[in-house]
Amino acid sequence: MLDNKMNDIHLETISISYFDKVIDHLRQTFFADEPLNKAVELTRPGQGHKLLELHCLSTLKDNVSVMAITNDGQIAGVALNGILRGNDDILQAMEKLNYVYDESFKKIFKLLYEQNLKIDLFNHFNVDKMFEIRILSVDTKFRGQGLAKKLIAKSEEVALEHNIKVIKTDATGAFSQRVVGSLGFVTKGEIKYKDYLDEQGDTIFVVDPPHEKLKIMCKIIN
Ligand code: ACO
Repeated sequence: MLDNKMNDIHLETISISYFDKVIDHLRQTFFADEPLNKAVELTRPGQGHKLLELHCLSTLKDNVSVMAITNDGQIAGVALNGILRGNDDILQAMEKLNYVYDESFKKIFKLLYEQNLKIDLFNHFNVDKMFEIRILSVDTKFRGQGLAKKLIAKSEEVALEHNIKVIKTDATGAFSQRVVGSLGFVTKGEIKYKDYLDEQGDTIFVVDPPHEKLKIMCKIIN
């Protein structure tokens, strides 16, 4: 049965006509159940989140995202990808957080931007652009069947088409880390959530097991 379900799915890049459907898919999945979103209870399944939707839409506009879609037009999973053009992109995004009112959203992105700046991948790889897998999401009905792996592999093809040498992702949970690890991504930076503390020494993210750390993982492609 499962195999039949998977046979009905194909992968393609996401065009503008699918943007609304992609956002709707993410409202049912990633917005509520990505490990950090879940830790801060960013949304409930089905609910929207204005700032996260804007973040997704601005990523979609880079036109390098991919989706897994059933023959009857149902989105089974997505990898929303963007192109980063230097640390200035990260610094600008960080600066914008000063104008964000949603503290939960802010603390997630502060963690991601801080950790990326700390390891300075542009300098490490001596590149001026990188392909970033920002949002990886598979519908609960289709999980555990290798779809995330296929989305990453397809994203690598897209990165190659754009002549980008380094592909990176901020893998926030054990499953995404397993997926990209099995495809040859290596960890360039990591932090355990229990070690990420506020000024009072309290844990900022209490994340459900088996997820225990953020890993910034990369692969050189050519
Ligand atoms: N329990 C145990 N193991 C699991 C589970 C589970 N619930 N789900 C996946 N796995 C394992 C698989 O067995 C597989 O391991 P293996 O290759 O050693 O067999 C590995 O994790 C990946 O399996 P896939 O089938 O390729 O992944 P899937 O299609 O299920 O999608 C994903 C994984 C995208 C992480 C999905 O669980 C999801 O959408 N989660 C919610 C959102 C999220 O956390 N996204 C990633 C955040 S990081 C980022 O977006 C850059």
